[in-house]
Amino acid sequence: MLSDRKLREETFIAELEKLRGSVLEVGFGKGKTLGDYAMADEVVAVERDAGRVEYGNRLVQAQEISGVKCMQAEGEALPFQDDRFDAVCCSLLICSVWNQEKAVSEFFRVLKPGGLLIAYENTLSDRPLLRTTQQILSPLLRPLSKNCRMNNQPLKLIESAGFEVQETKTFRFWLEPRMLIKAVRPDI
Ligand SMILES: C[S@@+](CC[C@H](N)C(=O)[O-])C[C@H]1O[C@@H](n2cnc3c(N)ncnc32)[C@H](O)[C@@H]1O
Repeated sequence: MLSDRKLREETFIAELEKLRGSVLEVGFGKGKTLGDYAMADEVVAVERDAGRVEYGNRLVQAQEISGVKCMQAEGEALPFQDDRFDAVCCSLLICSVWNQEKAVSEFFRVLKPGGLLIAYENTLSDRPLLRTTQQILSPLLRPLSKNCRMNNQPLKLIESAGFEVQETKTFRFWLEPRMLIKAVRPDI
């Protein structure tokens, strides 16, 4: 099994490096990805945690990362106009927001028609024993893991919000398989 770092590099980060235009990252955490947007013109990275926003902006300055701005915002109420971004991305975020449907519908709203969503999330396994274990442990561990749901179902949420799923890849990772999802806001 690959390490968390290696798995991220080969999946999520590899996708970030290709993104162009205006990009929004939601829930950037400790800012591990802020320097990974090699091709983007502009990156807006949001976090609900004010301390992380401050840390992210210091990191951007210290590492001289150009075109990246960190700001405080909730994924469920993004302070941006409709159709603002060419791409929206997040990792291990959908599992921990309070209102998952609202957050994913916000991603849809701020994306331009034809814009791309890249999500790297933990997911409910399709293996029956692991799936049952996740279902049992999820409510018990959620209060101890900053609201993260072990029985997260990001693909279902993304499809229900109206996205057209282009590609998914699932990887074994201890008790929580990881899923990379590439989806577009249909251009209709
Ligand atoms: C599990 S961490 C993942 C951080 C980073 N994306 C990573 O993969 O290492 C989840 C992050 O999302 C942020 N977060 C949780 N709910 C949020 C919300 N509703 N809006 C914005 N950020 C949120 C948390 O503050 C935390 O930094």
